[in-house]
Amino acid sequence: MTDGVTTTQEFYTRYAALYDDIARRTPGVRGLRRAVADTLDPDPGDVVVEMGCGTGANFPYLRERVGPAGTVVGVDFTPGVLAVARRRIETEGWENVHVVRGDATRPPLDDADTVLATFVSGMLADPAAAVRTWAELVGPDGRLALADLARTTRTPFAPLNLVFRGLVRASSPPGTRTMSGSPTDILDSRLVAAHRELENQCEDVRRETRALGFARVAGGRVRSRR
Ligand SMILES: C[S@@+](CC[C@H](N)C(=O)[O-])C[C@H]1O[C@@H](n2cnc3c(N)ncnc32)[C@H](O)[C@@H]1O
Repeated sequence: MTDGVTTTQEFYTRYAALYDDIARRTPGVRGLRRAVADTLDPDPGDVVVEMGCGTGANFPYLRERVGPAGTVVGVDFTPGVLAVARRRIETEGWENVHVVRGDATRPPLDDADTVLATFVSGMLADPAAAVRTWAELVGPDGRLALADLARTTRTPFAPLNLVFRGLVRASSPPGTRTMSGSPTDILDSRLVAAHRELENQCEDVRRETRALGFARVAGGRVRSRR
């Protein structure tokens, strides 16, 4: 593993409890997570794999969609966030939710009906390649969904981009603060790459912008290969 990966894992392990609060309680975030689950639109009984699942903030919404016959599997490479997710699964008694430690760009699974990743594209060196891998995993007719943050393009809220820039810098693992280009520029370009690849891989794509334009949600059905 590269140093950047180790730094990211140390960062998310150190702040796992704080991240969990932010991920579940920030105003508007519940609506956003529900919107992602709706956009993913899994069928009851599906196997849903969440790449970079963190502390499992999406799990309740995914469980609701797949029902008792379905399965939710979270993949993350950071031990600290997985520990929080495991505790929640145990406390809630969710028998159809599991977490696996692994690299989302090389998923440690060989089958899934649907894949989602929320707030992860910006952390991947090659997000388009990851989206292609996820499309292959679910196969034709499988479903993919992404949600990511980037600067807003809605003019009335554009002044808030300065605040967003500060928040991104403060919440970026240390390694990313010294990379060429600002963390916000990197986040924006990775979001574009991931969402463009989702458009390439999928049909019936649904797109939505939330949180004053800072959150982009997209999902669709993987095209059949000809
Ligand atoms: C910003 S958090 C998002 C967590 C969760 N998806 C959510 O919506 O709250 C990003 C997560 O992605 C994980 N992550 C980043 N790159 C990863 C990779 N290549 N493989 C697995 N997990 C990764 C980090 O460990 C972290 O838990």
